[in-house]
Amino acid sequence: MNRSFLIAQISDLHLKAAQRLSYGVVDTLGALRRAVDHLNALQPRPDIVLVSGDLVDFGRPDEYAVLHPELARLHMSCYLVPGNHDHREHLLAAFADHTYLPRSAGEPLDWVVEEHPLRLIGLDTTIPGAHGGQLLDSQLRWLDEQLACRPDAPTLLILHHPPFTSGIGHMDREPFINAAALERLIGRHPQVERLLCGHLHRPMQRRFGASLICVCPGTSHQIVLDLQPTAPAHFNLEPPGYLLHHWHEQALVTHNAVFGEYPGPYPFYDAHGLID
Ligand SMILES: [Fe+2]
Repeated sequence: MNRSFLIAQISDLHLKAAQRLSYGVVDTLGALRRAVDHLNALQPRPDIVLVSGDLVDFGRPDEYAVLHPELARLHMSCYLVPGNHDHREHLLAAFADHTYLPRSAGEPLDWVVEEHPLRLIGLDTTIPGAHGGQLLDSQLRWLDEQLACRPDAPTLLILHHPPFTSGIGHMDREPFINAAALERLIGRHPQVERLLCGHLHRPMQRRFGASLICVCPGTSHQIVLDLQPTAPAHFNLEPPGYLLHHWHEQALVTHNAVFGEYPGPYPFYDAHGLID
């Protein structure tokens, strides 16, 4: 297909129940509501929304019960992968209407969606009860088979944990298990346009195999940009953001954008030309 297609990616919603603030500070529900309103008002409107994990803060059913109606306010389809703050079974129970999610108990929530100009493959990188990420050997075999059967279909992989070392000390203590094997696999399948990740709560890019990893900022709080090995586990409230992936003329351009209010827009030009 040759038509253009617009994908918004949001990440790390960390939603809580009962109006509670994350870490006693962050109004994650208010932030998500502003994000949904913003995405619904975008012109052109995104065709779909991807949510790259940490949907809620503690994986509890009451948190997913708050999340579901908020995401249902989106005017476009949205697709979810879990993060380390999620709970597979509680997520599945709350999102029974998300029919692309697999239903086999205890298995990683890996999925494929074929109905868009870009093929979408969701990968569950969580290790139940742990902070770090992994892809099991069985998941890598499944991914290899999936990619091998449609080598000409431009494809996005959506996974919570970025399979690389970020340089932010406290986020790197648990290396991604099987990252090297994943990178070799990606190298064999150049139709993978992007690996779309979250977890790091700030935008990053890295070459990976024959592709590119893009990490999405959080919808609420960001991880402090501190590249010292001893960086403490701190967050801040710098402007939250999202990624807008624009498939156009058979190429994908990724834009980094922020939520919130700021001055502008202002014109560069008036009737006399460039404003002096
Ligand atoms: Fe997170």
